[in-house]
Parts: sequence; structure tokens; C-alpha cells
Amino acid sequence: MGKKIKVGTLISGGGTNLQAIIDAAHSGGINADIVFTGSDTPGAKGLERAQKAGIHTFVVDYANIIRSCKKGIDDTDLPEDFDFEEIKAKQRLFKTGIPENRVRFFLKSRAMAEKALLDHIREFDMDLLVLAGFMRVLTPYFIDRINTVPGRHRIMNIHPALLPSFPGTDGYGDTFRHGCKIGGCTVHFVDYGEDTGPIIGQKAFEIEDTDTLEDVKRKGLAKEWELYPQCIRKFSDSF
Ligand code: GRF
Repeated sequence: MGKKIKVGTLISGGGTNLQAIIDAAHSGGINADIVFTGSDTPGAKGLERAQKAGIHTFVVDYANIIRSCKKGIDDTDLPEDFDFEEIKAKQRLFKTGIPENRVRFFLKSRAMAEKALLDHIREFDMDLLVLAGFMRVLTPYFIDRINTVPGRHRIMNIHPALLPSFPGTDGYGDTFRHGCKIGGCTVHFVDYGEDTGPIIGQKAFEIEDTDTLEDVKRKGLAKEWELYPQCIRKFSDSF
């Protein structure tokens, strides 16, 4: 087993993946200390799971930040080190042809939220950032400030589909509606695109003709809880 790693976590909702990671850390299944759990959503149930496990928690209320940005963004409120042209050139979230004002609003409002996240995260010594059901896209502004060693990925995400099929917000729904006979989940490193980064691990399950969307989600989540700790172990073993 490699060195004990310090893992930061971000969540948005129920936190069942977070729970699986907490349990794996407690049982020795992964050689890791979870140093914080942050959320974009006040009251996310996963925050309670973290607190119960004695993990430091914080919230950056994305919805509130975006709402106030909609009233107008004063450039002096942006992070001092934010360079719109640089972030726009790096990002692969928007295809060409999307109106410039939309891209501008998105990247600026997210940079404000991401700066708030970074202010919390910087208080901790952290080897790996794990997105455990964090339902926000991260921009190059944030990614570059976590991945400070060139070529070395430090942000992991779990996606509810067998990438590169069905990126986006509803992987199990897309899998089900497409009539797939095999579903699955993917853990990957985060890069400048949406669900495009290098794949670390995948698990698949069969979808029966009688399965409902709920069945697909249930089968998928059970696979996620096995896969995420395995991928964190793989990371720490090579650390
Ligand atoms: C999971 O299905 C994950 O793949 C997706 O969001 C869901 C989070 O579930 N990104 P939970 O909060 O870990 O229970």
C-alpha cells in the first residue's frame, strides 16, 4: 500500500458515494484521511454524513452567487487572478457558436463561486480532490489552481454512465431511454471538458427488459460505491 493520502471531497446531494468512501477509509479499504467535505448546496444531506464522521464541512452557495451575478457582475468583484481570455481559450465546455455573452456570464459567475471554494480548500493540506456527486462543472480557473503540477491530475469525478457514452447530467436516464442493455459508471480525472478526462475505472451491470429507470439507478449506485474506493486506492498506491 502507498502513502496515506489526504482527500478533500465535494458533494451536492445525498452523499452515498461519500459514505462509501468514509466507510472505506474507516475499514482500511483505502489508505486515506478525508480532510473536508464541501457542498454547493446548503442543507445537502451528505453534509450530515460528513459531520457524523467528524469531517470538517463547508458550503459555497452556488445558487446564491449565480443569482447575485444575474443582477450584474462588477469586474472588480472577480478574483484578482482571473483572466477571462485565458479561461475562455482553455475551456472545452462550450462549443463554438455559443453567444459570447453566455460564455462570459458562465465563466465569470463560476470563477466567483470557485474562488470561494478555493478559499476554503486552501486551508487544508490535500493530495486528491474527489467529486462525490458534485453537480457543478468546474472551469479551468479552478482546475489550474488545484492541478498545480503540470501533467499531474488531482481531481476525480464519478459519472453515472460508461463514458464516453452519455456525458452530462443524466447518465442513467440517458442510458435507460436509449434502451441500452448494459449500463455502468465511470471514475475519471477532471479536465477542461465535461466528463472527458482520463478514465481511471469503470463498472458495468446488465439492464433487464423489465427494469425501470429506478432499477437502473439502484444497480448503478451499488456499482459506484464499489468503484470509487477502488479508484482512490489505485491513486494512493501510485502516489
Ligand atoms: C451519483 O449517481 C453520481 O454518479 C452522480 O450523482 C450521484 C450522486 O449520488 N454524479 P450520491 O450523492 O453520492 O448519493
